Amino acid sequence: MAGPQPTPADTAREAVVEAALGKLDLDAKARLLAGQDMWTLPALPQIGLDSLVMSDGPIGVRGVRWSADDPSVALPSPTALAATWDPELARRAGVLLAQEARRKGVHVLLAPTVNLHRSPLGGRHFECYSEDPYLTGALGTGYVTGVQSGGVGTTVKHFVANDAETDRLTVDNLISARALRELYLAPFETIVENAHPWGIMTAYNSVNGTTMTEHHYLVNEVLRGEWGFDGFNVSDWTAARDTVGAIDGGLDVAMPGPRTVYGDALAQAVRDGKVAEATVDAAVRRVLRLAARVGILEGAEPVVTELPETVDGTELAREIARRSFVLVRNERGALPLKAGTVALIGAAARDARILGGGSATVFPARIVSPLDGLTAALPEGTLTYAVGADPATELAVADQGFGLRAVCRDVAGQVIGTRSAPNGLIQWMGSDLPEGVTHDTLHTVELTGTFTPRVTGPHTIGIKGMGAFTLTVDGATYFDDVQRPDKDDPFEAFFGAPVPRAQAELTAGEPVDVSLTYVVQLPEDIPMKVVTFALAHAEPQRDPDELIAEAVEVARAADTAVVMVATTDRVESEGFDRTDLRLPGRQDDLVRVVAAANPNTVVVVNSGSPVELPWREDVAAVLLSWFPGQEGGAALADVLTGAHEPGGRLPTTWGSLADAPVTQVVPTDGELPYGEDLFIGYRAWEKVGRTPSYPFGHGLGYTEWTYESLDADGTTARIRLRNTGERPGREVVQVYVSQAEPDPGRPARRLAGFVSAAAGPGESVEVTVALPRRAFEIWDEEANAWAFVKGSYEITAGRSIADRRLTAPINV
Ligand code: BGC
Repeated sequence: MAGPQPTPADTAREAVVEAALGKLDLDAKARLLAGQDMWTLPALPQIGLDSLVMSDGPIGVRGVRWSADDPSVALPSPTALAATWDPELARRAGVLLAQEARRKGVHVLLAPTVNLHRSPLGGRHFECYSEDPYLTGALGTGYVTGVQSGGVGTTVKHFVANDAETDRLTVDNLISARALRELYLAPFETIVENAHPWGIMTAYNSVNGTTMTEHHYLVNEVLRGEWGFDGFNVSDWTAARDTVGAIDGGLDVAMPGPRTVYGDALAQAVRDGKVAEATVDAAVRRVLRLAARVGILEGAEPVVTELPETVDGTELAREIARRSFVLVRNERGALPLKAGTVALIGAAARDARILGGGSATVFPARIVSPLDGLTAALPEGTLTYAVGADPATELAVADQGFGLRAVCRDVAGQVIGTRSAPNGLIQWMGSDLPEGVTHDTLHTVELTGTFTPRVTGPHTIGIKGMGAFTLTVDGATYFDDVQRPDKDDPFEAFFGAPVPRAQAELTAGEPVDVSLTYVVQLPEDIPMKVVTFALAHAEPQRDPDELIAEAVEVARAADTAVVMVATTDRVESEGFDRTDLRLPGRQDDLVRVVAAANPNTVVVVNSGSPVELPWREDVAAVLLSWFPGQEGGAALADVLTGAHEPGGRLPTTWGSLADAPVTQVVPTDGELPYGEDLFIGYRAWEKVGRTPSYPFGHGLGYTEWTYESLDADGTTARIRLRNTGERPGREVVQVYVSQAEPDPGRPARRLAGFVSAAAGPGESVEVTVALPRRAFEIWDEEANAWAFVKGSYEITAGRSIADRRLTAPINV
């Protein structure tokens, strides 16, 4: 493929870009390719270019401030979006995100993340869509189309094979050409072909010996050459390491700044004859093209001149959440809830866990917890609540009950500025400092104010960050020393755990003074200026047995028990991988005893990626709610009460770690061989012949479906199905293709297409699924090309990879 035909508007934009490029000298060009701070590129007034602003992504738009006082809508996590199996819903999410980006002056959203679920241990599993490249590509296409229809660019990331976090900056992933093409590159290829993204982000890791920010073959030859990608290529943050390697490897922009391998170093490399100026020009051309597309290059008409209709973010967040919930088990019609009393149990039911950790974090203006959602939806007096078990093993950013502000002082101790602090997290990047403060004058930041506890007992207060701190609570100094990192990752200050430093006996309702002073020390191994630390807190820990006993009491007294189990941001986050798939803390014990006390026990699993559910056969129902975004609690009430059916299907196989076929995410001597080759996800489970807890594609609704007929040829499958239940419903019809004569070198089956069908009770509906040519192709390593494999195939239509209802033989 060679990219889309240029429209007259494209041609006009290109002319403006060429003219602007012609006016820039080498130094200005080199400067444009280097971040000027954490999120932006420099403006070049001489050509009428404004500063380009980028922001994470993918579930909201954080903006240039990493702070709760600059809120953004928080949609459900990417695994949740993928569980809707609905590219149109992904497109609508994209439209909302473009609206959010424009509100915050952001031109490029650093999303979507389309790496694959190679192993359930991958730390950013929650941030990727699926184990299947076809489903990932379809969702990514919808998402990018939506964002860009709002005139905002995307960077599809992380190109390529950033599928785990262990040693992510240096790991060399060894992958066969075939696995690369058929699995890891495939979503990128689909999105480039169908959504024409304006950007791509190259990953930290290496592939087959070359770091991705210098990968001439994959970037210049495959992405740009074969696929016709005409957008810009930005490095993952700090991933660009070598001036000549990066520019020759096709990297256009090195982020963040101001210290990068581009800028002056790049201009010098051209002057020294190490880099051709034409190579720099090509990169600048792509950046100017992006600027023209988003409307910040004078004289160029942006791609979008009429904005899409305004989207209600609250409503959309709630709709996506309920469409994403996967009902994996529902015995004796346990759900929807019948009239009667409900005992809601679990720490996450009260302190909602709505998103995964790391750069995907955004700060919503409001959060509807499950307790809030069910309290609003159920008749008064029918709901009781107990914590049961608290999985949090570490302190959280100080929030509830804290009233704080940040006071900045110079080296002489004079106050030079202040800023409100909506919670205990300070994260000031680049020039984002309180008014009147500069990096040159700032010496200390004091987070100061009061804390009014909601419970009496020993409260733990701690510090997240690295450097010299002084912590006082209620007049007593608990820490006055230096806190050092325990890991060699420049982002440890962001992703590391808070350290407990004080235990203070406090009384509910009685405010005490708290103060945490940080002596600002700009990190040397991070190229941008960032002031980051946090005041952290944990409530008095109650006796775990007592908590469980209390939960059993409320469960026994109610008609139904709803137990929320959850992971924490120590379990699922950017920056590290998981080492097991267990639910943290005493949550498994809790479910077991509650289920023994109440046969109508419904478990809601609040995690972004698979966890083990050892009690799953002993409870009435299991509903997976992922990280459901800011409206998760309202959506949960919609689904539990039956106002809406849960619409999700698994985008990834759920099983135990002992059975999971691909679990190696730790490199040896810097190398991680993808030894399983083509066999990840359901492809691997089928090969090893193990039955997972819940297969790929599985998910129940509140009605029944009968598959009546299937007609298929090499390009299309037509399926007739009937809603044989008692209420309207929506079904995700999945089409898999397999070879009639199995070939052990090839996965037995693969997803070739899917579509949603909706029908009322008793109604039948016919749907058509287009079968892509790629469903019958393999990557021929010798020919270095796709090869169409003629022969006999079986096309099956069904409700999951395991629940195949109808089969049709075809020849292609
Ligand atoms: C992540 C990217 C993210 C960037 C900026 C990196 O650590 O890998 O996904 O866009 O930071 O926050």
